[in-house]
Amino acid sequence: MRSLIDKLAAGHSLTKGEWTVLIANQPDREYLAAKARQAARRYYGNAVFIRGLIEFTNYCKNNCYYCGIRRDNRRVARYRLSKEDILACCKEGYGLGFRTFVLQGGEDAYYTDSMLAGLISQIKSSYPDCAITLSIGERGRESYKLFFEAGADRYLLRHETADPAHYKILHPKEMDFEGRMQCLKDIKETGLKTGCGFMVGSPGQTAECLAEDMLFIARLSPHMVGIGPFVPHHETPFAGEAGGTVEQTLYLISLLRLLKPDLLIPATTALGTIDPKGREKGVLAGANVVMPNLSPIGVRKQYELYDNKICTGDEAAECLNCLKGRMEGIGYRIVTDRGDPAEGPGGISCTT
Ligand code: 5AD
Ligand code: FES
Repeated sequence: MRSLIDKLAAGHSLTKGEWTVLIANQPDREYLAAKARQAARRYYGNAVFIRGLIEFTNYCKNNCYYCGIRRDNRRVARYRLSKEDILACCKEGYGLGFRTFVLQGGEDAYYTDSMLAGLISQIKSSYPDCAITLSIGERGRESYKLFFEAGADRYLLRHETADPAHYKILHPKEMDFEGRMQCLKDIKETGLKTGCGFMVGSPGQTAECLAEDMLFIARLSPHMVGIGPFVPHHETPFAGEAGGTVEQTLYLISLLRLLKPDLLIPATTALGTIDPKGREKGVLAGANVVMPNLSPIGVRKQYELYDNKICTGDEAAECLNCLKGRMEGIGYRIVTDRGDPAEGPGGISCTT
C-alpha cells in the first residue's frame, strides 16, 4: 500500500476507491506520517502558526446532534461578549504576540451583519498588522462580502461531511447540506481565505464518507482544513456514541498534508483533549497551526462543544507558554507572524 501513499505524495490526488482503501485500512502509519512531516517542512520549515481564538457567543440557533451548545441544550448558561470585551481579548492577544484573531461563535442573530462589520473594522484599525478570521456559521453571500469589505481576511466553516446521507445523520431536518456547500462556495468566491473541515469518527461516518471529504477538499481547494476527533457531549443526542480516535485523526491529518502540501492545518483542541500529547502528535503528523484560547476565563467552560475540553481554566499567557514548550519539545517553534496561506514553495519561509 506504500505505492498509494507514494502516488498521493507525488501527484496530490487519488480516486475515490483509492482513498477508501487507504482510509479503511490505514496501512503504513509511520511511513505516511514521515512523508507528511516532510511535506510540511518543505513549505513551512519547523514553523507552527498561532491563532488567538475568541469564542464570543455560545448562543446558537442550530441543533446539531453532536454539539454541546446546540439550541436544545438547556443546561448551558448562555453568554455574549460585548464589543468592549472582544476588543479587550484582542488587546491581550496582541500583547502576547498574536497576529491572527479568530472570532468564533454559535449562529447568533443578535450580532447583525452590520454590528460585525463595525467590529471587524474597529479591530483592523487598532491592529492593522493582524488578520481576522471569522467562524460564525452560515450567513449568506452578501454578509460574507460585507465582512470581507470591512477587513475580514479568512472564514472557517467546517463542511462537517461531504456525504449528504451522512449529513442527515449528524443534523436535524431543518439543516441543509446543499446550503452549507453553497456557503463555502460563496465564501471562497468573495475573496476570503477559506477553511472547511470535519470531525473524525462521528456517528455514521464510513471510510467512503471520508473519501468523499477528501474529494470535496480537492475540488474546493481551501486554504485551511480543520479536523479533530468527534468527542461526545453528555447533553446531546450523541451522548452515548463512541468518539473518534487519535490514530484515525492523525492519519487523516497526514493524508490532508499530502493532498495539499501548503494547507494550513490546525492540531486542534479536540485532539489535545483526547490525548495529552495530541497536539504534538498532530504537528508530527503534518499539522502546522495551533489555536490557543483568548476568551475570558469566566466564559470558557460555557463554550464546551464536547466534554472535558482542555484549557478552560488557563490564562491565554499560560496556554501560549505551554504550547511554546510543547512545540519546542518536538523540534518546532511557534511563530507570531500572520501566517498567511502559502503561495506555493518559497511563498513562505522555505527551508528544507
Ligand atoms: N466533538 C468534536 N468536535 C465538535 N464540533 C462540534 N461539536 C463537536 C464534538 N462533540 C466541531 C464541529 C464544528 C466545530 C466548531 O467544532 O466540527 O464545526
Ligand atoms: Fe492551554 Fe497547555 S495549551 S494549558
